[in-house]
Amino acid sequence: MSETLHIPQTKDRAEIYESLFPQMKALLADESDQIANMANFAAVLKEAFNFFWVGFYLKKKGQLVLGPFQGPIACTRIPFSKGVCGHSFSTNSTIVVPDVEAFPGHIACSSATKSEIVTPVRDSYGEIIGVLDIDSDVINDFSNVDKVWIEKMAALIN
Ligand code: SME
Repeated sequence: MSETLHIPQTKDRAEIYESLFPQMKALLADESDQIANMANFAAVLKEAFNFFWVGFYLKKKGQLVLGPFQGPIACTRIPFSKGVCGHSFSTNSTIVVPDVEAFPGHIACSSATKSEIVTPVRDSYGEIIGVLDIDSDVINDFSNVDKVWIEKMAALIN
């Protein structure tokens, strides 16, 4: 495994994701521990894009519990029926929220979050085990490019 991340010096997110994907794959490939992989996964996206918050919520005893993350302290438990994370988990789908204030039931762990994307994380059997949540302090920060690549990257955790 390479110890340093190569991040192309460009503002073109597609180009950055394209360069990160094989690096992420190599980084996670030799480790079977999901928590270790989630921790490095969050670190890669935080370092590459400097998103406000990148982390995981994992299904535990009927709710989502905070997992590995990078960024400020966050809410520790989210019911399946609440917030963007709960909505993504219970619909087993990616949710892009351009303006969190316009999303009914959004859980504001931080008032700095303006937009977010949440995508399911599944195990090797395809069963949903939690969600990956990425928060930005910029409104409308996530496009279809982010959705496609973040889904593809989240599939590397299983
Ligand atoms: N905003 C999320 C909660 C998690 S944090 O922002 C880290 C939600 O509405 O589910």
